Amino acid sequence: MKPLRTCVFPCAGWGTRFFPATKVIPKEMLPLVDKPILQYGIEEARASGLDKLIIITSKGKESILDHFDRSAGLERSLRERGKNDLLADVESVGQMVDLIAVRQKDALGLGHAVLMARDAVGDEPFAVLLPDDVILSDEPSLLQMRRVFEETGRPVVALMEVPENETSRYGIVAGEMIGDRRFHVSDMIEKPKSHPPSRYAIIGRYILPPEIFPMLAETGQGAGGEIQLTDALRRLVAEGEFYGYVFEGRRYDAGEKLGYLKATVDFALRHPTLSGEFRAYLQGLFGNGKAIEREAVGDDRIAGRGKGTRQRV
Ligand code: G1P
Repeated sequence: MKPLRTCVFPCAGWGTRFFPATKVIPKEMLPLVDKPILQYGIEEARASGLDKLIIITSKGKESILDHFDRSAGLERSLRERGKNDLLADVESVGQMVDLIAVRQKDALGLGHAVLMARDAVGDEPFAVLLPDDVILSDEPSLLQMRRVFEETGRPVVALMEVPENETSRYGIVAGEMIGDRRFHVSDMIEKPKSHPPSRYAIIGRYILPPEIFPMLAETGQGAGGEIQLTDALRRLVAEGEFYGYVFEGRRYDAGEKLGYLKATVDFALRHPTLSGEFRAYLQGLFGNGKAIEREAVGDDRIAGRGKGTRQRV
């Protein structure tokens, strides 16, 4: 088995759930406190040992690549003015990664976006990380999944238990828990309208073999009239062992307004310089009630830790 070193970031969507804010600004570039949403995903991939990073973009998303590029003029100006802290921040982002960019010319769906990475990925296993799905965890969620992949050599998707009335928003797996957060997947369905086969939803982290590409190429339109990654994954499931991993961590759907607000609050409450004043501000707003007690305990309540519970935000 070739080593896992590549991560694909589909970033070509319109961001309609955030209109009008994302009419011009890519949703991946909206800030969560002081970093764009995508940067959290890039940092997670790097912390999981992945260093070949492929961004699937579309027209109007140039700022994504600019963000991770050097900015010679800005760096010079900050240096001349002795703003060394700011300079370090700007330089570190510019030197963080070398990205490979591939354009998706038509918005035909997530499966089609991943297919666009075929040549850049080559004949190797790869991860897919959906930047909207921001995960706060002790250990990067992709790294948690990577262990399962390296042990089994089989595909792995991230899973989270969701309430039954929310299953129609996700890819839902069928199969059974086999212990140690592992789930043996026997089938899956994208956004089931009724009778979901379980309450385990696929969250935007996948580790896949290159054999998925010809399957994607043959996948037609599915749910919502789009070429769905889930439909191609079903074929992989039919051909061999396929695992889900119920990751430890708290997941936010930062691609929609409420999830984004929740992520902003939680990340601000953990920010090294903002957390104290921000917590005091919230306390002033709500008094010392239960509303913020959960946040005040900080990292100890990251979902999934300790009692094996999971929490969706
Ligand atoms: C995509 C996938 C879906 C998955 C979800 C997780 O859907 O198609 O299977 O459950 O991401 O966020 P989207 O949210 O892009 O419609």
